[in-house]
Amino acid sequence: MTKLGLAGGALAAAAVAGEDIVATAGSGVTKPRVLLVNGSPHMEGCTYTALSIVAQELQADGVDTEIFYLGTAPVQDCMACGSCKKHPGRCIWDKDAVNELITKAREAQGFVFGSPVYFGHPSGRLLSAMDRAFYAGGGAFEGKPAAAVASSRRAGSLATLDAIQKHFTIAQMPVVSSFYWNEVHDFGPEDVMADEEGVSIMRQLGRNMARAVRAYAAVPAPTAVERKFTHFIR
Ligand SMILES: Cc1cc2nc3c(=O)[nH]c(=O)nc-3n(C[C@H](O)[C@H](O)[C@H](O)COP(=O)(O)O)c2cc1C
Repeated sequence: MTKLGLAGGALAAAAVAGEDIVATAGSGVTKPRVLLVNGSPHMEGCTYTALSIVAQELQADGVDTEIFYLGTAPVQDCMACGSCKKHPGRCIWDKDAVNELITKAREAQGFVFGSPVYFGHPSGRLLSAMDRAFYAGGGAFEGKPAAAVASSRRAGSLATLDAIQKHFTIAQMPVVSSFYWNEVHDFGPEDVMADEEGVSIMRQLGRNMARAVRAYAAVPAPTAVERKFTHFIR
């Protein structure tokens, strides 16, 4: 996994050390891969730390992980130019990380999208990246298990999770959950690790995701229904 072993990752590693971890004797993909997208401008902040905990559990279960950082530079929102309809799988705007995200998504069997809560919703950078990645490269995500993670000081996590999950549920992606909503509360990475319930939620999410990626990879997708595309007036 890239970028683990930094501050938050080390904290997360320590949190899971010494515990019994039973490797899943899964079928299907021998070494599944989960892409975890950090929608925070902070490379090693709270969102990253929460994602690192999930990643630690996935790795312990034999799943490859990568934490993908969108950076601090502006992320363009969708211009609705339609170029991706002529060139599926690629956004015409090549000056940020979105096309790289689509490329990495093709190689992944599952996803975790994490965001800080900004005014009760996901970061603009994550929403813009997801809008464009799913619009231009939806096929890279379709039918693969996915989870949302929210990091907030105090409030707004549920609306944030809901906004992220909307991308999943029109792409036939099963939403992976934990024993509570996937949220941590903090001001800094140390607070994430001190949020014992949040840590346990992330750990269970990692284990559930490991199961989901193996299960979905093992069973072929159903035959597609012919899709109707209307806008209600004709
Ligand atoms: C512009 C902005 C808006 C924020 N809005 C909220 C909010 O609505 N609710 C909340 O609890 N925290 C809010 N916060 C705090 C962050 O969500 C919180 O510190 C988060 O854990 C930071 O994660 P990060 O370290 O991964 O960036 C806001 C922070 C910023 C910068």
